[in-house]
This record gives sequence, structure tokens and C-alpha cells, in this order.
Amino acid sequence: MSKNNEAWGSRVGLILAMAGNAVGLGNFLRFPVKAVQNGGGAFIIPYLVSFLLMGIPLLWVEWSMGRFGGRHGDHSTPFILDNMTKKKFWKYFGVFGIFTNIGVMAYYTYIESWTLTYSIKSLKGDFLGMDISQVVQTFDNYVDMGSGINLPWLAIAAFLVTLSINIWILSRGLSGGIEKVAKIAMPILIAFGAFLAIMAITLGKGGDCADCNSHIGMGFLWKPQWDTIWSPKVWLEAAGQIFFTLSVGMGTIQCYSSYLKKKDDIALNAMSAGWMNGFVEIVLGASVVIPIAVGYLGLDWVKENANFMMAFKTMPYLFDQWGPVLAVIAGLAWFGLLFFAGITSSLAMGTPWMGFVQDEFKWSRNKSAWTLGLVILFLAMPTILFFEYGVFDEYDYWTGTVSLVVFALAEVILFAWVFGMDKGWKEINYGSDMKVPTAYKFIIKYVTPVFILVIFLASLIQPKNNDWGSLFTSRYELDGGSIIGKILHVGEANTAWMVDGSLTSVFYVDMSRLLLVLTFVGLGLMVRYASKLRQKNAG
Ligand code: ALA
Repeated sequence: MSKNNEAWGSRVGLILAMAGNAVGLGNFLRFPVKAVQNGGGAFIIPYLVSFLLMGIPLLWVEWSMGRFGGRHGDHSTPFILDNMTKKKFWKYFGVFGIFTNIGVMAYYTYIESWTLTYSIKSLKGDFLGMDISQVVQTFDNYVDMGSGINLPWLAIAAFLVTLSINIWILSRGLSGGIEKVAKIAMPILIAFGAFLAIMAITLGKGGDCADCNSHIGMGFLWKPQWDTIWSPKVWLEAAGQIFFTLSVGMGTIQCYSSYLKKKDDIALNAMSAGWMNGFVEIVLGASVVIPIAVGYLGLDWVKENANFMMAFKTMPYLFDQWGPVLAVIAGLAWFGLLFFAGITSSLAMGTPWMGFVQDEFKWSRNKSAWTLGLVILFLAMPTILFFEYGVFDEYDYWTGTVSLVVFALAEVILFAWVFGMDKGWKEINYGSDMKVPTAYKFIIKYVTPVFILVIFLASLIQPKNNDWGSLFTSRYELDGGSIIGKILHVGEANTAWMVDGSLTSVFYVDMSRLLLVLTFVGLGLMVRYASKLRQKNAG
């Protein structure tokens, strides 16, 4: 069927590429912030339970679906799913496996480009001697759209460079591009992370406040606490983090593993990549940004201010407290680490589109890569230009959060209940270098789907102020952050598109939603057309 003859060069390369796919900005930026926002050590227990009952099972499911698809010449989820069942509608669920990646890649590559700019700025010593408000201002100016021709030109240029690097590597293929990058980037990233973690551990008391101590930051993140264990919100956040960090429910793992050989191990490889990601997240990810910030600014400050932008708005200033030489080295290590973590993930996000058009339309690798570049450029522009209106967050919410859950639920049902758990179990264990605990046959069939379904339903109807006791009572009010709440703009003071002759952020948000829906529909039509082509060629 396919003229797509990509293959992995070595097992080490495959594991590093898979780990690189998982290890990303999520490990170093998203995880520490989510952990702080959800009670520090209280987050760890729901996180680990989600990892064992949802993350690991999904890794096995996705790896084996991918290898199964690859055996039939399929490298993208619509037709991998199609091959697992006679029912034709499943392939449209597979559209998520391309859509999600394109949507996430659009905003993810943009953040990646910030890390590239900040690596260069750190190396040049641009932040030396700045006070914290100047560092914050530098970032705000960088992403600010300004007016008229005052577009964020530097941000746009850095994005174009970052995207071109991604596309160029993708055009070099799996073993000639992605695998080579993973083999270089992953060890450097771990070395940089270890260096920064050691700096954080040895920092101790940095600032003057009573709770200014990096060890307090570490204790806060790692010491398990049980008080919020019954909070559904914490569970939702922890499960969401597992999806994002492992890249499960995305479609990248299926695509990568569709290039495995027929008898290549799945059980151990999937575990290795999964645990490597866990190590980088819990050990390294939790040891850098939060402890260093707590060291200088105190735990209370961090609890109040922890957010994704902290890495850019505070770290250069904090590194500067170490003197100019260490500030340059630490800045380069931090933003370089983020860049490497980001690029090994964004490359993975590019592959489902490549696999799809190479398989179905016989496009060359170059054509597949550069068309992807155009699609990403088109989708990313709104996130860059209308960053301040929340377009970026919309992409993250719909493509980086909701889509993952929907697709994961669909695929695990397909795998365990339609394809069949007995056949599925054989797929997981075929050629394996370790024995998968038999309990996982039960977990994959019952626990994982129920777990994801509960997560999905809870996200759909999350009550205001997390008042779950109000559910099914007249007190119940929908939270603005729930899926339905978001769709309906619940709790927003203004829902008009235009106020006093100016477009509102609701307008930009709604337009970005429309764009994402149209992207999904467009991909769906491409899948439909590809399916007709297949029928024509077969008949
Ligand atoms: N898994 C990738 C990350 O953690 C997407 O950033």
C-alpha cells in the first residue's frame, strides 16, 4: 500500500526518540506549575496513580496499535484504527491523531522559539544587571503585538527559524533526522537538567524572607500530602498532566511505533520510555524552576505567582544572583534544555501528518515536511499575533487537553472491546523482552477506560468552586473552566464580539475555535478522500 519506507536505525535511537517525544516543555514548565497549583506533594499521589492505571496502559496500547498498523503499511491513526475494525467510522476518530499534533505543534513550536531566543539572549549576557521588573518587561515586550507595524517581529522571526529547523529535520527522515537529534539532544538535556538541579540543591537560602530556601521548595513538591487526595480537581489536573507529558492520546506514539519491525519488543521499550519521562519530570523537572524561585522569593510568593511564564519572567533574574559567569552558563543550560526538550517533542508531532500524506498520497518526504510547515505556519500565526487575547490558551485547552482525553478514550475502547482484549494482549506481548503483569489485562479492559471516562465526564460538568457536593442539587452551577462552561463562555462578564467599536477577546477566542474546528473537518475530508482512493486502488 505505502511507499513509505522509513525505519528506526537502532533500539537506543528508538527509545531516545520515544523518550524525547514524551520529555518536553511539559516536564519542565507544566509539571512544576501544576504541582504547585495543586498542593505540591498532594499532587504526587494522584499523579502516580494516573501514571500506573492510565499512562502505562495507554503506552502499551498505543505502541502495539502502531506496530500493528505498521505491519499493514499504515503510519497514521485514521488507517491504523480503520484496520483494527470493520466499522468504517472509527477512522474518523483517528483524525484526532493528526489534528491534535498539528494544533499542539502550532503553539508548542512558538514556545520553543522563545527558548531559542532566550538561549541566545542568555549567551549574549542580555539579562545581566537587570532587576526583576526589567526581566518581566523584556518578556512582555517580546510577545506584545503592539499596534500597526509594531508587530512582535523578533518573536515572529524566531518562530520562523524554529519552525524551519523542525521542518528541515523532519525532511531528513526518521533515522537520518529525528533519531540523530534525539541521540544528541537527550543526553545534553539530562546533563543540563542535572547541573541546574545540583545548583538548586546547593542553593539553600537565597533571599532574605523567612521561607526563602530552595530546600523548602523541594520539600513542598516531594513530601506526599494526603489532604487534597479527595479533591476531584487535583485528580483532573494530575491525569491531564499524565496525558500531556507522556504524549498519550496524541497519535505520535502510534506513528513512531508504526515504524517498528514486526517482532520488535513493545512491553519493555514502552516502559523504558515512560519511566525515563517520569524520571526527568519528577526528579529533574521538580528540581529546577520551583526550588530556585522559592530559594530567592519564598514559598508564599511562588504559590501565588506560579505560572507557565515564570520560566521566562523570573529565571534570568534569579540566575543573575549567581554572578555573571554562572548566570550566563545557567541561562544557557536552562533555555537550552527547554529548547532540546521542546524540539524532540515537536518533531514527533510532525510525523503523523508526514506518515499520513506519504502513505495515502505518495508525497515525497520533502513535500510532506514542507506542506506541514505551511499548515503549522498558518495555524500558529493567530497564537502569535493574538497571544494576549487568549488564543494561545484556547489551542492549549482544546488540542492539548480535551482532544487527548477524547482520543484516548476512543482508542482504548477500540483496542480492548472492538479489536478485542485477547488479540490486544497478544499484540502487546508479541516479541516482548519482559512479561507484562497479567493484572494489566484487566486494567486495560476495565480500569483504564472507566478512569478516562470519569475524567472526561468530570471535566465536562465540573461545578463552580469545585463544589462537587452540589452535583445533582439545585445549588449546582457550572464552572467556567469546564468543557461545557468554556463552550458557553460561562462566568465571563462580556460575551459580545465587539464593544465600543473594538473586537473583544471573546471574538478572537471564538474565531480560534472556528479555525480549529475547520482544521479538524478539513483533515476529516482528507481522510475520506484517502479512503476512497484506497477503495479505488483495491478495486
Ligand atoms: N509530551 C510533551 C511534553 O511534555 C508534549 O511537553
